[in-house]
Amino acid sequence: MSKPHPKPVIAIIDWAQAPLSEPQSLIEREVIGDAAEVQYHLCHSDADFNAEVCAAQALIVWHNTPVTATGIARLSDCRAIIRNGVGFDSVDVQAARARGIAVCNVPDYGTEEVADHAIALALAQCRQLFPLDAEAKQLRWTIRVGPNLRRLRGLTFGIVGLGRIGTATALRAKALGFRVCFYDPYLANGADKAIGVERVGTLEELLRASDVLSVHCPLNAETRHLIAARELALLKPSAFIVNTARGGIIAKEPLLAALRAGALAGAGLDVVENEPLQTAAEAATPNLIVTCHAAFCSVESKIEMRRNSARIARTAVLGERLYNVVN
Ligand code: NAI
Repeated sequence: MSKPHPKPVIAIIDWAQAPLSEPQSLIEREVIGDAAEVQYHLCHSDADFNAEVCAAQALIVWHNTPVTATGIARLSDCRAIIRNGVGFDSVDVQAARARGIAVCNVPDYGTEEVADHAIALALAQCRQLFPLDAEAKQLRWTIRVGPNLRRLRGLTFGIVGLGRIGTATALRAKALGFRVCFYDPYLANGADKAIGVERVGTLEELLRASDVLSVHCPLNAETRHLIAARELALLKPSAFIVNTARGGIIAKEPLLAALRAGALAGAGLDVVENEPLQTAAEAATPNLIVTCHAAFCSVESKIEMRRNSARIARTAVLGERLYNVVN
């Protein structure tokens, strides 16, 4: 009698330093059913991939675990690496492609959360929530109408990258009374007409016009340090900058220096270059709000993300046609 064929394996790779999922992987098991054996592994990086991970047919990888060319070279039978989230800058997509491994992302789970979060960071700055909260908790009650406390209506909200999240943010900002502009060199003409916002032709134009600048493009070779010292200097000193995309898009040192010098009114960052913040001095930067790369999180979005990534992994092990392939 021939030996029964072993079940394919789907390995879920969670970040050992701060796990985002749960070892039982109940949501994934429900979606994957009998199609594969589901394993849960805690790793700091792909150097921690053990023999079971290296032999798996599909990996679901949470966002802080880098998957490099070295790790990819150790995968012996992998059909797909599924990045549990939208950004896939943590995976060496070229190395995966060279080995015939598809990299898929999960773009359809947290668009609303990230847009809500960008708006929350913008509002916290424009309405000075944190300084007012600190005042009240000192058991004082003085309202200092400093120059950073602004009326939203009429301020210009500038968006870098009018994709899914950029569009959702634009619609929210518009409803709040901002004048909304965007810069996105890859969108077809008419994107501005579709949602009733203004398009500008260059990043420089957007920087000069914005009272709030909100970043929503992906991180890649072109956008790393898209906003560095020269670009920050083009912003008005009264401007606020919001980043819910990826830390590496804004150079951290010149940004913190601009805040310390008062050359910028404030920053609301969900993501920072080289996460997390590294020193107490960085954390003490004036007019800085930082939120631990949590923009995508909500009870609802995490369930949706886990279901969607499990569906793609199931497709991969069944040999069906993959979707959301980014390489
Ligand atoms: P998307 O792919 O729908 O939109 C990205 C837009 O950026 C596209 O329209 C593209 O044309 C534009 N773009 C590309 N290069 C550009 C450049 N050089 N200048 C200006 N625009 C440029 O992606 P989506 O779903 O809107 O997500 C955007 C990013 O948000 C993701 O790549 C990810 O890094 C980040 N993200 C962050 C999360 C968080 O928790 N903080 C959660 C989810 C996504």
